[in-house]
Amino acid sequence: MYGQFYRDGICEIDFGDAVLDTILQNILNNNCKKDFNLITKYRGTFDLRPSAVSYDDVFINVLKKHDIKRQIKNITFKDYSLFHVQVRVVNNNMSYMDWHRDTYYDKHGNLVGKEPHGLKLIYYPSFTEEQEDRLLYLLGSNRILFPTNGPDQQLFKLLKVKKIKSNNQKAILFDVNGLHAVCPEQQGKQSVRLIYSFLNKKQILDDHGDDDLHMRAMSMYEEL
Ligand SMILES: [Fe+2]
Repeated sequence: MYGQFYRDGICEIDFGDAVLDTILQNILNNNCKKDFNLITKYRGTFDLRPSAVSYDDVFINVLKKHDIKRQIKNITFKDYSLFHVQVRVVNNNMSYMDWHRDTYYDKHGNLVGKEPHGLKLIYYPSFTEEQEDRLLYLLGSNRILFPTNGPDQQLFKLLKVKKIKSNNQKAILFDVNGLHAVCPEQQGKQSVRLIYSFLNKKQILDDHGDDDLHMRAMSMYEEL
């Protein structure tokens, strides 16, 4: 699997859990536990606040159930820890995040995002028979980063787009340096996704050592 991940920047890994699905479905139905709310981040998106890690242990337990820590090591050969866990509801029929890299250099060569870039694991559950479009990824775009982002457009002529659909048995692991885009929601529908962000442990400590939320996510992961 590590060869495929190195080449493409994305792979599927086994995921999912019945308890997790019930909790996510309740959140999707805006039936959150006391003291928790869905708060808008981007237009048409709502994040579980104050935090997913304090909402329920299932968000960490499912990582243990599927041996995610070992899997990430075996797929990336890198040393990652958990930076952030987010539960996000989307009801936007425009993409709230069109094609982008999480880390890149803008047209003036200025850095945008984390350096070095991290990794995301996203679970898109499906509560109906139908599997729906969730994410697009430009395969192999993770292998090249230009000193300014202008030439990125050329890559669409050279590389293939992979479409990720909702799936109750799989999550996707991807290098956030590759170009990716969120698929728009169908008119009148909404969906939920569970997003884990990983960065190097030292990087988390250096940049967010004073942030209790990130420290908690990191230590829960380190103890797995
Ligand atoms: Fe992104």
